[in-house]
Amino acid sequence: MAVPSVQLPSGVKMPVLGLGTWKSKPGEVTEAVKAAIDAGYRHIDCAFNYGNENEVGAGLKAKFDEGVVKREDIFITSKLWNNFHHPDDVEEAVKKSLTSLGLDYLDLYLIHFPMAYKRGPEMNPKDAEGNVIGEDIPFTDTWKVCVALEACVESGLLRNIGLSNFNSKQIQAVIDVAKVKPSVLQVECHPYLNQKQLLQFAKEKGLVFTAYSPLGSPDRPWAKPGDPSIMEDPKLKPIADKYGKSVAQVLLRWGVQRDTIVIPKSVTPARIQQNIRVFDFALTSQEMETIDGFNVPYRACDVSWLDYMPDYPFHEPF
Ligand SMILES: NC(=O)c1ccc[n+]([C@@H]2O[C@H](COP(=O)([O-])OP(=O)(O)OC[C@H]3O[C@@H](n4cnc5c(N)ncnc54)[C@H](OP(=O)(O)O)[C@@H]3O)[C@@H](O)[C@H]2O)c1
Repeated sequence: MAVPSVQLPSGVKMPVLGLGTWKSKPGEVTEAVKAAIDAGYRHIDCAFNYGNENEVGAGLKAKFDEGVVKREDIFITSKLWNNFHHPDDVEEAVKKSLTSLGLDYLDLYLIHFPMAYKRGPEMNPKDAEGNVIGEDIPFTDTWKVCVALEACVESGLLRNIGLSNFNSKQIQAVIDVAKVKPSVLQVECHPYLNQKQLLQFAKEKGLVFTAYSPLGSPDRPWAKPGDPSIMEDPKLKPIADKYGKSVAQVLLRWGVQRDTIVIPKSVTPARIQQNIRVFDFALTSQEMETIDGFNVPYRACDVSWLDYMPDYPFHEPF
């Protein structure tokens, strides 16, 4: 099934549905990437922090070698982890991801979070009490180096750059210093966290909006019994039944129909194939409004254990 694309300001086309890879285990993710490409996915969402870019790269290589896709047919995102925010570390981080993925450029590179962690090899450096140690590196400096990223754009390592988990004030702070504006904002978004104001803000600023955890991230490591679960919301089942679709497909359709890009994660081939089949039906405006009304707001990826950090993004309403 062919997936529609949106054009980024650079002219690069970004497919509106991609495969998520967070929590996809080595040993599973290579097969997931191969199944996704066979099913028609042309967009894979990766990150250094997921610890599996090597295995994602193996899946890509297999499909390049088989001649199923060429590098230019596929849109690959990676992300700068928080211990690499120092201006001198950004290019090295980009190169680490490129090496693992077996690629010579990325279609999109995002600053994963606004908070900088202590520089060094530890992804999650901790003090004696187990708290993550931050470092005073303004994200605007990271972006400016991201003027190193911006320089990378010129030298061809990165085709587009953007932000993830930034709130509207932080996005504005970046836009205020940026020679190259961020082209994409990636944040959590599903009907329990519909991000109406942030989506509107991103549209006004010309940022393409990617919805992560579009199924509510049921396999997030910190999930507890009794947490809100959008996949189990009984109000979605009748809508899914009406179209002969699954609840997951309705959630993804709702996402693409409100002009967001969705990146569902799965390592299950049947689900990978199912999740891309969302372009052959449309929800009515009444159904879209009903689902919009499910907003709680509930953040599955709130990382509230980091709320002592000055750049923690989720104190703001949006
Ligand atoms: N920028 C960030 O900070 C950030 C944060 C979170 C996520 N992300 C990105 O967004 C991607 C997606 O978010 P996510 O991984 O948190 O969660 P998600 O995509 O909302 O949900 C993934 C879970 O849903 C299951 N699933 C997938 N399709 C299904 C279907 N059709 N029916 C039933 N269950 C289904 C998967 O199971 P199986 O895999 O077992 O099939 C997995 O347990 C991530 O993988 C990552 O690439 C980015």
